[in-house]
Amino acid sequence: MWIAPPYGGIFLKRIGFMTGGGDCAGINAFLAACIRRGTAGYGLEFVGIRRAFEGGCADRIEDFLLPLTASDAVGLEREPSTILESSRLFPWSEANKAAGLPEKLRANLQKAGIDAILATGGNDTIKSTKHLAEMGIPAIAAPKSIDNDVTGTDTMLGFKTAIAFGAGAVRSTVESSKTHRRISLVEIMGREAGWLALEIGIAGGADVILILEKPLDLARVCARIAEINKRQGYANIVVAEGARLLPTDPVLQAVQEKDPVVKALTGEDLGKDAHGNPKLGGVGQILRRIIRHQLGLKKIEDVRATDLGFTLRGLAPAADDVVLGTRFGYAAVDLLMSGQSGFMVGLQSTRIVKVPFETALIQKQIDWSEGDLRNAGVAW
Ligand code: F6P
Repeated sequence: MWIAPPYGGIFLKRIGFMTGGGDCAGINAFLAACIRRGTAGYGLEFVGIRRAFEGGCADRIEDFLLPLTASDAVGLEREPSTILESSRLFPWSEANKAAGLPEKLRANLQKAGIDAILATGGNDTIKSTKHLAEMGIPAIAAPKSIDNDVTGTDTMLGFKTAIAFGAGAVRSTVESSKTHRRISLVEIMGREAGWLALEIGIAGGADVILILEKPLDLARVCARIAEINKRQGYANIVVAEGARLLPTDPVLQAVQEKDPVVKALTGEDLGKDAHGNPKLGGVGQILRRIIRHQLGLKKIEDVRATDLGFTLRGLAPAADDVVLGTRFGYAAVDLLMSGQSGFMVGLQSTRIVKVPFETALIQKQIDWSEGDLRNAGVAW
């Protein structure tokens, strides 16, 4: 049983959970493990703050609190998404700072008797958790995102489950396009990194994978698709939502001239989220039209597009993510109770490690110079 008060005399008793950003599988496994470790090992109490920083900054934080006991943890590891809901509110944006949200958050946590925070998050939530730690509130984070784009960990909660499900979905699309002798496109999330599209594409049997780390050369990509389509009688493409169409691409410009829908879709501004990230979605529909024009295919069914989008987010965890969430949960509680704050737990090779928030916040992308990825032969 732990006894020494670790934070300069502050005795941690009641711990708050926050699960921010895009939901995914495995978050509940993390919560369950923290509760088990914290109650049995340290005599801690836990309370979930629903909707993460939105709940934390609310006028009445009490409306967003969900006490969680050891009995709530039973079977929780298998539940999909997060039982605590989510939001993307960033209290430290210029406008929110001016409105006094960071101070309101601190006062709310105090009012709720919350001594420390355990958060799950991707880049944005880790950034907010770093601000919390800098305000002197003990905080540890566990990485989650189907995008797998945080540095310092080989994999994040939700990634493996999304790959398993997404690969099955792409495999089904491949079978259907073979049966109907057509070209199929599947769009996969991944705003700043193409890991999810790449691994789902490889495992699902895609012929061509378009990732955002490699600028699109439409003439080259379309020639490759035409060649595969001619040889096989069908072709399958997986595209990351973040794949960028270059406005100067001659194929894009020619299609924009011919097709007002492509012109409108490529000119559409979807806006930005609370963290200033571009909102994405729809590149598959644009590419579907471009491929049809470029390959001279007349019928709509010659090239079909499917967007897996949010289907990969609200999944129940596969075994990999239950195990990872459990390991992260035990490690996060132990780290917090050893008097440490400002770290993310991560998996490196076979070991759980602690990673400073600043390191975790470095965007992790596919390094195109790495031969084995290039040699997978399908990323264009
Ligand atoms: O969780 C990360 C992510 O999946 C990105 O790939 C995507 O662009 C983003 O979430 C969109 O999420 P939302 O529409 O919920 O903000």
